[in-house]
Amino acid sequence: MKFISTGVNGFDKVLGGGYAEKSLTLITGGPGTGKTILGLQYLYEGLKKKEKVMLISFEEDKEVILEQAKNFGWDLEKYLKNSQLEILTFDMPSTHVVQVVEKISKEVRTHKPKRIVLDSISVLSLFAEVAAGVELANSLDLNLDQLKLSEGVLTIGAVMGLLSKIKQYDNTSLIIAEIPEGQKMLSRDSYTEFICDGVIKLEKNEKTGKREITIVKMRTANHKLTPFKFIMGKKGINI
Ligand SMILES: Nc1ncnc2c1ncn2[C@@H]1O[C@H](COP(=O)(O)OP(=O)(O)O)[C@@H](O)[C@H]1O
Ligand SMILES: [Mg+2]
Repeated sequence: MKFISTGVNGFDKVLGGGYAEKSLTLITGGPGTGKTILGLQYLYEGLKKKEKVMLISFEEDKEVILEQAKNFGWDLEKYLKNSQLEILTFDMPSTHVVQVVEKISKEVRTHKPKRIVLDSISVLSLFAEVAAGVELANSLDLNLDQLKLSEGVLTIGAVMGLLSKIKQYDNTSLIIAEIPEGQKMLSRDSYTEFICDGVIKLEKNEKTGKREITIVKMRTANHKLTPFKFIMGKKGINI
């Protein structure tokens, strides 16, 4: 089996080489735990290897992303110019989930990136719920308040559809999920974790003040279940 480097040497070691080729891994954790940085570091690793990569962001503007990367010495602008890197951002309240899914599918089909990072599925799921709810309400001639949304059922179509589309193409990718602090679920929509081949959890240990990374699930590695400590250094995440 072929493994794709995560961009973090120590993490590649514990994973037996990296993420399995053509796998989809869920990166989950609370706010500020390093999910976006782990994603950017993974993409940057691909860029250095002359691969095509894609960042899909529902969280931040392009300028903010470029600035955050620059703080770690990752010059993404250079790769935007030579078209190795594509950054898709969506302004969610004004873009319909169906349009988002169509746009992403089209860009993935056209550019065929080797690595995709989607940051984050939680935002998309949230709007998938709202959009599905509005459509259902309209079709039943009800207003939204009259309709009790059944979360899982409504979101599952749009989000699962997108993930399975991404998986069809030849890429090794990360899906980021933001979980509220203290929550036990790994993603907002608990089914996302079942579609993914692996689940990685990032945390800040309040007692020790240390950052931790846990391999919750990884089909391709015989891994420890206990957390590994990591640091956020000058050049990104280091284990
Ligand atoms: N240049 C930097 N050097 C060290 N740590 C940083 C730097 N920039 C951000 N951080 C740390 O990383 C955290 C944000 O990481 P990020 O990946 O954006 O989190 P999230 O999990 O919310 O996506 C910040 O809260 C801060 O603790
Ligand atoms: Mg983030």
